[in-house]
Amino acid sequence: MIEIRSLRKKLGGNQVLAGVDLVVNEGECVVVMGPSGTGKSVLLKHIVGLFDPDEGDVLVDGMSVSRADGRTIRQIRSRISYVFQNSALFDSLTVGGNIRLGLPEDHCKRPDVNCNELVREALEHVNLGPEVLPLLPAELSGGMQKRVALARAVVGRQRYVLYDEPTTGLDPLNASIINELIASLKNEIGSTSVIVTHDVDSAFYLADRIAVLSDGVIQAIGTPEELRTTPDQRIQRFLDPAAYAGAM
Ligand SMILES: Nc1ncnc2c1ncn2[C@@H]1O[C@H](COP(=O)(O)OP(=O)(O)OP(=O)(O)O)[C@@H](O)[C@H]1O
Ligand SMILES: [Mg+2]
Repeated sequence: MIEIRSLRKKLGGNQVLAGVDLVVNEGECVVVMGPSGTGKSVLLKHIVGLFDPDEGDVLVDGMSVSRADGRTIRQIRSRISYVFQNSALFDSLTVGGNIRLGLPEDHCKRPDVNCNELVREALEHVNLGPEVLPLLPAELSGGMQKRVALARAVVGRQRYVLYDEPTTGLDPLNASIINELIASLKNEIGSTSVIVTHDVDSAFYLADRIAVLSDGVIQAIGTPEELRTTPDQRIQRFLDPAAYAGAM
């Protein structure tokens, strides 16, 4: 379980998070939506300790991320995989090398584990063939880099997966392949996920609950059905794909 409690964070003089409370239950998929620049990526980064809260805390399986020592933070991070908004692949590593980083340390030394097979399977899941394995990220398109980042995130089958805009920049076919992959991870291994997205259709397809973050706080949270029928017109406008661009 991930528990975000009264989280506050100021960055560059701006109160980005002003008391965020959010619980993500075991096996649940929570989608976080909100206008650009509202702190969605900053929120995800607090879950893995890339930002320290000014106030409040994040607990992963009961362990405080902000008070964790080196050993505990490694333990927390070993349970979580993270798809960064900008893919964040290592430029000097091949696609294969990047995906291997998603496997636990020493995993490939185990005699019962065929790492090459796991890497190839992960690539297949994101609709890429083995011919890209020896390539460097710079040799791939932005959408292909995104899919390699997704393969890296899913290869280790961690319990928690944080996705920051997993389908942004993908064509509709590949976006739907990624949505299916996210759904299948949840169904097959019961992964718990937090997805940040601007894609209203994927949010409604994937989410157990949708949280709307704006002005530093969660303005609304509920099942897709609850939010679809909310009387709050601001939230309704925000979740209407046609009106999305100008909303909130
Ligand atoms: N490392 C940083 N240092 C200073 N300010 C930062 C830092 N990271 C983010 N910010 C600021 O925090 C605010 C929220 O940024 P964040 O990246 O979380 O937005 P977002 O909701 O993810 O937006 P988008 O939908 O465009 O990705 C922005 O004003 C941004 O400039
Ligand atoms: Mg972002």
